[in-house]
Amino acid sequence: MSLLIKGASVLGAEPTDVYVEGGVIREIGSLSTDVVADEVVDAAGLVLLPGLVDLHTHLRQPGREDAETVASGAAAAAAGGYTAVLAMANTSPVTDTAEAAVSVWELGREAGLADVFPVGAVTKGLAGEELAELSLMNRSRAGVKVFSDDGRCVSDPRVMRRALEYVKAFGGVISQHSQDPSLAPYGSACCHEGELSGRLGLPGWPGVAEEVIVARDVMLARHTGSRVHVAHASTAGTVEVLRWAKAQAEKDGSWAVTAEVTPHHLLLTTDLLAGYDPTFKVNPPLRPAEDVEALRAALSDGTIDAVATDHAPHARQDKEHAFVDAAFGMLGLEEALSVVSTVMVSSGLLDWSGVARVMSTTPARIAGLEGHGRPIAVGEPANLTLLDPAATYVVDRDRSLSLSRNNPWHDRKLTGRVVATFLRGKRTFAG
Ligand code: DOR
Ligand code: ZN
Repeated sequence: MSLLIKGASVLGAEPTDVYVEGGVIREIGSLSTDVVADEVVDAAGLVLLPGLVDLHTHLRQPGREDAETVASGAAAAAAGGYTAVLAMANTSPVTDTAEAAVSVWELGREAGLADVFPVGAVTKGLAGEELAELSLMNRSRAGVKVFSDDGRCVSDPRVMRRALEYVKAFGGVISQHSQDPSLAPYGSACCHEGELSGRLGLPGWPGVAEEVIVARDVMLARHTGSRVHVAHASTAGTVEVLRWAKAQAEKDGSWAVTAEVTPHHLLLTTDLLAGYDPTFKVNPPLRPAEDVEALRAALSDGTIDAVATDHAPHARQDKEHAFVDAAFGMLGLEEALSVVSTVMVSSGLLDWSGVARVMSTTPARIAGLEGHGRPIAVGEPANLTLLDPAATYVVDRDRSLSLSRNNPWHDRKLTGRVVATFLRGKRTFAG
């Protein structure tokens, strides 16, 4: 099986041809017109990026296959330009054993649309008390390296300390959902705490509930010489803590902190809650414009390392409720690259190699993935995304490959659209 991509702009550079055989990039350059391939793609005017890697995807299998399966989520991922996704552990049952992790990994392999890497739970049942089988999950065929209780915070500092010590042994990382539950109680806190939450009568979720956990965790990472990753950073205060912590970690060289931001926290603001539309209910909540500004700047200057979707599909019956009763979360896989293009590229905050860095190379490095986030070069696996940087379109939630419809981008005009995705040279999406 061979593939020829003709005239693509690799990371925004001058057009070139890319020839792929056996899933590997074999040649790059101006190829002779005699080169034949099983599949030829005319990529004039298109940008070629390394296949995207999502550090934070919720698939709902096992347990809520009505909202998403591994296969439907992988299809949505491919449509968004992703070749690898990390599937969060808060399924039912929770991914807290080697057996559970291997089962998700195998479902991903069967679907064959994106590599699905299970995230292991930090604690059994996400209860925050007893550590899960971290090392067995790591040594399983699924090779788990990222652990998270996402949806819940590992709020007990003693448990967090032990988890950091434990994963250090095999180069793992703890991805923390930073929410101090006494400052922002699970389930109830649902609107950025401020003038608007008061006016709307919605329970407040203050930024400081995130910031105190981030501050604590970087000190624990430093103390243990381990690695912490901040999931869905949402406030300017978190950015300040990260900036300080990264400078210390760089000096010390013995520990590390990384962070991700979601597409929705880069574009949407808390005032969208004024209509009480549960589509915009998400955890952490949408924040004011000042936070959004700080997050964009931090992604641009590297204080925030990666974009991760927090794709959180929910069935209609869980989302269509009064705001306070609806489930938290929104879809993200299919529009993430368009949102980043619209927000970050159009404004000059990132160029295409910057997009490759925050959506592919760095997330792959954080998760310890081999074969993803690699340079577009001869001998590298052909995990590739082609996008039309000039295409403008209006999102239609009914055209999604996800099984859910809680799409915050519905009816929005975005610029930059995925045209094709290739997993080891095999086309997994055709736009
Ligand atoms: O909005 C969210 N939804 N935030 C989370 O942390 C969990 C996620 C979910 O699982 O639905
Ligand atoms: Zn979370």
